[in-house]
Amino acid sequence: MASDRYLFRVVADFCLYSKKIIMYSNLPNSWFRVARTEDLSAKGVIPLHYFGKDFVLFRTEDGKPHIFDAHCPHLGAHLAHGGRIEGQTLRCPYHGWHWETNGQCAAIPYPDKPKPKAKIQSWPVLEVNGLIMMYHHHQGKLPDWEIPQIPELISQEWTPLRLVRQWKVRTTLQDYMDNSVDVSHLYNLHSRTFKNAHSHGVQIDGPILTHRMSQKYNLSSLAAGKLVLEDGSVTTIYYGPAYDLSFYWTEGKLKLGLLTIFTGTPIDNEYLDIAIFYSVKKVLPFPLNLILNKMLKQDVLETFEQDVSILENKKDIHNPPLYQDDGPVRQSRSWASQFYSENSLTPNTSVQK
Ligand code: FES
Ligand SMILES: [Fe+2]
Repeated sequence: MASDRYLFRVVADFCLYSKKIIMYSNLPNSWFRVARTEDLSAKGVIPLHYFGKDFVLFRTEDGKPHIFDAHCPHLGAHLAHGGRIEGQTLRCPYHGWHWETNGQCAAIPYPDKPKPKAKIQSWPVLEVNGLIMMYHHHQGKLPDWEIPQIPELISQEWTPLRLVRQWKVRTTLQDYMDNSVDVSHLYNLHSRTFKNAHSHGVQIDGPILTHRMSQKYNLSSLAAGKLVLEDGSVTTIYYGPAYDLSFYWTEGKLKLGLLTIFTGTPIDNEYLDIAIFYSVKKVLPFPLNLILNKMLKQDVLETFEQDVSILENKKDIHNPPLYQDDGPVRQSRSWASQFYSENSLTPNTSVQK
């Protein structure tokens, strides 16, 4: 009996350890931001490098974006370097073979020769909220969920979504997520912005996790004014581990509203391409709204710069001594584990931690 218990513990420890290694591999299966809508013009063809691999992103004549593996199956030309759109196909620059959007060879320019059965890997793509998203799954599974259109971003009451900044950060998506749900770091590391913060827990619905918090802002760093109270709330909705949407609100006569989208796309197993976007509720008349937008953008930027320094230099602590005040770190880790699979570790993927 005792040996059974010992065996069970060894197996349980091994499973936890394996999951931990996989989760820190930085390569989950999910939707990832790979470009902004404005980055890809009509009939545009551009290279991408994510997940340690090369891809080509292109927009066919019907205006839809598509992604292929970068290299042509014929003799290996990179399709983003000289490839062009002809109708609904991508034409390789090297020998002029045409590829349909599902990856099948559409035509070859050799008279009287049948087209080959050659196929290039195509990937699911979604263009929503001004961003081009790619679904990357290590076993090639298709998505059964999507990133939704956010109503505020097509409303006249909010400013258009704009980029705060893009960073290349040496970190993993899991460390990034831990940081995001970690409540107590808000009023310590980010004390310039937050006086305190309190988690109201998480709600989980398959690939979506919602975290609600209330907090007191340090208004000296924001729009210090009598109309705005220090009390506020934030709701963050995670659509998978690489895309989260937050709504920040202040209380008082003037209710300031800020929407942010944080996205993290693995460049490889070591680096994340992080881009933050923002939109502001139009509560002030012009030109006061411009000043408010600038201040809120600057606050998001400076706050995340503080995180970058921590993320780049931290190490993973096995079984950390977590308190309730730290926020729902364990719940979010357990939720995030659904996005990792054994094949998340590819042969050329080294385990970082
Ligand atoms: S390498 Fe693309 S057509 Fe030959
Ligand atoms: Fe932070």
